[in-house]
Amino acid sequence: MSEAILGEHRVGELHDPHLAHHFDSSTQQFSAAKLGMWIFLGTEILLFSGLFCLYAVFRGNHPEVFHYAHQFLDKNWGALNTLVLILSSFTMALAVRSAQTNHRRELILFLGLTLLLAVDFLGIKAIEYTHKFRENLVWGKRFLEDPHPGLVGAGAVQAVKSDERQVSENARPSQAAPALAPGNKDRGRDLFRVTCAACHGLAGQGMPGLGKDMRGSSFIEGLDDAGLLAFIKKGRQPNDPLNTTGKPMPPKGGNPAYTDQDLMDIIAQVRVVAKPKGGGSAKVAAKPSEAAPPVPEEPPFEIHKSFLQPAAEGPVGLAVTPAAGHRADVPDPRHDPNRPANAQTFFSIYFLLTGLHGIHVLIGMMVISWLLFRALRDEFGPSYFTPVDLGGLYWHLVDVIWIFLFPLLYLIK
Ligand code: HEC
Repeated sequence: MSEAILGEHRVGELHDPHLAHHFDSSTQQFSAAKLGMWIFLGTEILLFSGLFCLYAVFRGNHPEVFHYAHQFLDKNWGALNTLVLILSSFTMALAVRSAQTNHRRELILFLGLTLLLAVDFLGIKAIEYTHKFRENLVWGKRFLEDPHPGLVGAGAVQAVKSDERQVSENARPSQAAPALAPGNKDRGRDLFRVTCAACHGLAGQGMPGLGKDMRGSSFIEGLDDAGLLAFIKKGRQPNDPLNTTGKPMPPKGGNPAYTDQDLMDIIAQVRVVAKPKGGGSAKVAAKPSEAAPPVPEEPPFEIHKSFLQPAAEGPVGLAVTPAAGHRADVPDPRHDPNRPANAQTFFSIYFLLTGLHGIHVLIGMMVISWLLFRALRDEFGPSYFTPVDLGGLYWHLVDVIWIFLFPLLYLIK
């Protein structure tokens, strides 16, 4: 249809200021420009296809990471942004149509609307990114750092205090969970020996076929005390997708009588045995004269009667109030024993894909601003609207890419 419109204007070609001298006609020039644009869009599609392959390989190898981590994205923001972009593609198409039909005021209006919607899109993206960075839902090691360190572990006391305040405000008779003191390592060592050592070994080295080597475990390192407590209370059965050995880790190490405080003591000992490998014994190992491997020095093993625990008091949950700004229905990954290893990979991919797409939106906004500027100077009409047409093609591509990104990142499951 555009060719038909162009055809009508063949007469004035020689005087057309937009016709470059190496083209025979405006139609030819338009077709050449369009071909060039499609070749460029082809390279863009290749670029994103490569990244989608990366996504497919990671998701194929680690579906659990994607299932787990996608819950930290807000579907509502994602869906709203999808709507915003679809609408902006529509206004862009109307802008192209207005240029072809010589409706200058509509052209300016629709270009302006498209620009406004693009700003909306980036604004929503900025809200999402800010939240992710505040909650350390990002790539790399930072993911493992607790963004609100005051609220757990030693700070559980503080959380419980605010819980008590709530209780008294609501005048409810229910009991607040008792504060957990940081674990006592000496007591914990004895409890570890009577319960955990059977499978994990006295030094946490793991007993063949029974328990796992704890030394240098990144799983343990990646959880704070509250998270570890939740894990030990739950255990990890062989049918658990996170189970790595096919052997059961019984809840509370098989002793249901343990209170949370007992387990906190044990955790203090777990922290000692699980220290990253080579930390303390590096010096010993460095001596070439010593042929024997360093054996951790253990005092003689004895169990006192007094370690027999009283009967269980019933479930006492660990009260950790959800951090401010954190969605209450989603657990904080730092305290979540069900977090799969390397959950942060998801965020590497999320930021890579949405970041690159965001840059494309930004470039699109520059193009649209430039088109708007030229439209205000009345440069477009039925005989010359190539820039609007090509800018529109680019904008549709940006839109289509997001339409793929939204379900791939936000709508897993
Ligand atoms: C009956 C044997 C058994 C006992 C007793 C036991 N565990 Fe385990 N534990 C396991 C097994 C098996 C695993 C590995 C599960 C898997 O395959 O992921 C494990 C895993 C763990 C892990 C996770 C390690 C990692 O790197 O994934 C921790 C932490 C742990 N146990 C702590 C304890 C503590 C603390 C106690 C004592 C209160 C205890 N376990 C008692 C068998 C046991």
